[in-house]
Amino acid sequence: MNSNNFWQEYKNKKQTILAMAPLAGFTDSAFRLLLKDYGADVVYSEMASVAALYYGDNQGGGALETKELLKFKQKERPYVVQIFGSTPKHFAQATKIITRQIKPDGIDINFGCPVPKVMKQGAGSALMMDLKRAREVIEAVLENTDLPVSIKIRAKVKNISALEFVKYISDLPLAALMLHGRSLQQGFSGDANYALVKEIRPFFSGLILANGGINSLAQAREALKTSQADGLGLGRGALGRPWLFKEIKEGREISLATRDILEIALKHARTFVALKGEKSLPDLRKHLAWYVQGFPRASKLRAQLVSVNNLLEIENIINNYKQENYDTLD
Ligand SMILES: Cc1cc2nc3c(=O)[nH]c(=O)nc-3n(C[C@H](O)[C@H](O)[C@H](O)COP(=O)(O)O)c2cc1C
Repeated sequence: MNSNNFWQEYKNKKQTILAMAPLAGFTDSAFRLLLKDYGADVVYSEMASVAALYYGDNQGGGALETKELLKFKQKERPYVVQIFGSTPKHFAQATKIITRQIKPDGIDINFGCPVPKVMKQGAGSALMMDLKRAREVIEAVLENTDLPVSIKIRAKVKNISALEFVKYISDLPLAALMLHGRSLQQGFSGDANYALVKEIRPFFSGLILANGGINSLAQAREALKTSQADGLGLGRGALGRPWLFKEIKEGREISLATRDILEIALKHARTFVALKGEKSLPDLRKHLAWYVQGFPRASKLRAQLVSVNNLLEIENIINNYKQENYDTLD
């Protein structure tokens, strides 16, 4: 393993790591930059297809788009690129490309995605079920980079538990593991089993982050206490609420006024447009909807925000909302 293992540096500092988990369609550069402002230590890219990188653009593989998806700013470091796929040689080639051309701080392998389109290719959760192939994939990545390699797994996929999976690969020099404490069967709801971290700990030499259902400071404390993990992976809890990182980091609840949240949404939108241009604004709409969740008279506001096409429109919608609700807004 290389000397630039940022995971190990955190471990040496005995610092609880707060990471933003990979969320396809959400964790783009603009959002990651905002998360960094609120104290996120490590940010992950959206998952990227190794097949797309392997086939390049000649066969319509979408390599250019994938490389675009993985672009990042220096301020985001340490930045981890997450990859998914099912074929070891695709992983090997994609790892080379990412290491040489993208130059992130780490590479993470997805073993948890439950989306049928992904599982049908033998990727994501389907790869966690196939121990032998999963091992070959990890080896292919390790052999083709000097960056620290991490994995993201689920508590259980069909008959393969996280414990069995980790035991099978326990000799491989992985730097970190994020455990989504829900089974494939649970999908994205229900309780996450944080205690599992303790079970797998003896068989894994890298850092372990607990993930799943951490939406508040209280839940973060509970997850850390139950898991004894080295850190946490935040997911949907940080959508429309990037200051969740600050709450956990500073150990105090933060209650923001509606006006302040609208300012954050606007800042997010401005960064997004600066990086991706207004043509991509449809990709930001779902973020905007998360910000205004629970606002007074949110339904009209949400309906307007999810159809925006330019920055001026967003500014106008927000200003109108503020004026219309002037008396009641905090
Ligand atoms: C919209 C969405 C997209 C996701 N995309 C990814 C992904 O690209 N890679 C991955 O490993 N997990 C992905 N996940 C799973 C999350 O990283 C996380 O494990 C899961 O949401 C549980 O955490 P939470 O309950 O805090 O949201 C995604 C989840 C959601 C809801």
